[in-house]
Parts: sequence; structure tokens; C-alpha cells
Amino acid sequence: MSILQVSGLAKAYGGIRALEGVDFDIAGPGIYGLIGPNGAGKTTLFDAVAGTVKPDSGRVMLQGKDVTGWPSHRMARAGISRTFQECRVLAEESCLDNVLFAAQPKGLGATVRQLVTRASGHRRDLREEAMRLLSMVRLQDYAHQPAALLSFGQRRLLEIVSTFISSPEVFLLDEPASGVNPALLEVLADFISAMYAERPRVFLVVEHNMEFIMSLAQDIIVMHQGRVLERGTPAQVQASPAVMEAYLG
Ligand SMILES: Nc1ncnc2c1ncn2[C@@H]1O[C@H](COP(=O)(O)OP(=O)(O)O)[C@@H](O)[C@H]1O
Ligand SMILES: [Mg+2]
Repeated sequence: MSILQVSGLAKAYGGIRALEGVDFDIAGPGIYGLIGPNGAGKTTLFDAVAGTVKPDSGRVMLQGKDVTGWPSHRMARAGISRTFQECRVLAEESCLDNVLFAAQPKGLGATVRQLVTRASGHRRDLREEAMRLLSMVRLQDYAHQPAALLSFGQRRLLEIVSTFISSPEVFLLDEPASGVNPALLEVLADFISAMYAERPRVFLVVEHNMEFIMSLAQDIIVMHQGRVLERGTPAQVQASPAVMEAYLG
């Protein structure tokens, strides 16, 4: 049984066909790359798989279960966790609270989750885990500082770390390296590799930084104009004339 299977997934925004029938099958754990030119539909695919938007047609199967069209909190409970391309952190809250907040059930609504996080006194094991994750991306000294003090790259790391406080089956990371400076890029790549070693699940990573994604992922899915154009190893994808044409097109 596949872990994540997407078939015929379609989504239009008015006249814009963001997804035109996306098909792929992720059979087992691994770090998978999802690349493609701007506007290819990568973020919309994440939106549809994570329940942020409802697809017009097609299927999303998670471990053999049809989860198509489920709202995001249900997807989260079913085991799909994501980050956002535009990076979403709670700027007023401390970095530690940001991570702990992400550990609360998603169905509660943001305000209630914040209240629960504050009122719970933070279970010690959860708090320790949050601190460990923050240290792995060198944010331990900011644990009690508001996220607003972080650089853009650090905020992205904070959002990514927050995704890993729960233990989903599928992690969707939307352009994790974008806006992250070269010094932190290595920290980020090491963090993702370390998380995968700890939790060998499905990591699907959208990325424009080719060097970053080609060294991180062993299986690359290429999207173009709302469809899967190609899939293969980094070497196969880089040698593909169709992929080259899509990027130059
Ligand atoms: N909320 C939206 N409203 C209207 N058009 C959208 C929306 N989201 C995405 N699109 C359009 O859908 C297409 C695919 O976008 P997107 O999924 O963001 O691509 P990518 O992440 O690969 O750059 C683009 O043409 C984009 O402008
Ligand atoms: Mg995008």
C-alpha cells in the first residue's frame, strides 16, 4: 500500500487551471523533491493535499484511505503536516511557544490553541523536545524571545521545526530554503536529514534551490503547467530535455 497517492487531481481558480490532473504515487518513506517553474502548481498541490483548498476533482489517498477534500485540521490529524511558502509564525509569541502551539490539535482554532498552550504549563517532555528541536537549528538562545526578533531565515527554520513537534506520516515543506542565508542553509539541510534519520517517513520538499534539493532528495518529481512532467533521480531529471525546456520555456 502506498503512503501517498494522488490521482487526477485538478483545481482551477476562475480561468486559471492551477492543477490539471496530477498523478503520482509515493510508495515508501524517503525525501522526495518537488520542483518545477513558477506557477507550475506546486503550492496548489500542497494546498490540495493538506486540505488548505478543496480540489475540483481527483483523489488523495493517504495509506490507502481516501482523504480527498478533507479540511486541513482533519488532514493534520490523519498525518499530513505542512509549512507555507510565505512562512507563517506567530511574531508576538516566543519561539518556544510557537513550537508548542504547533503541538496542539489543529481543529481547535488558533486563539484557543494559544490559550491551551499557555494554560497547560507545557508538559515537560514536550517542552524538552521543543527545546531540542530549537537547538538543532541554533535557535535555543531565542526560545524565550518573540519570533518577531528573528531574521527571515530564522523564522523559516522556526516554522519548519514546528512541523516536526508532531509525528505525521507526510511532511510537506514548501520552499524551506528560500530566503535562508548560505550559513543557515547547511543547518537546514542537516536538520532535515537528521529528522529523516529519526523519523523515516515521507518528506516532500518543494524547492527552487537546485543544489539544495538535488543533494537532499533521491527521487524528484517535476511539475509543469499543473501536471507531473517527469520523475526520476536527480541525475535523470537534470538530463531530461523536457525538464530543461519547461524551465527555459
Ligand atoms: N488563490 C489563488 N487564486 C488565483 N490563482 C491562484 C491561486 N493560487 C494559485 N493560483 C494560480 O495557480 C497557478 C499555480 O500556482 P502555484 O500553485 O502557486 O504554483 P507554484 O507553487 O508552482 O509556483 C498560478 O498560475 C497561480 O497564479
Ligand atoms: Mg509555490
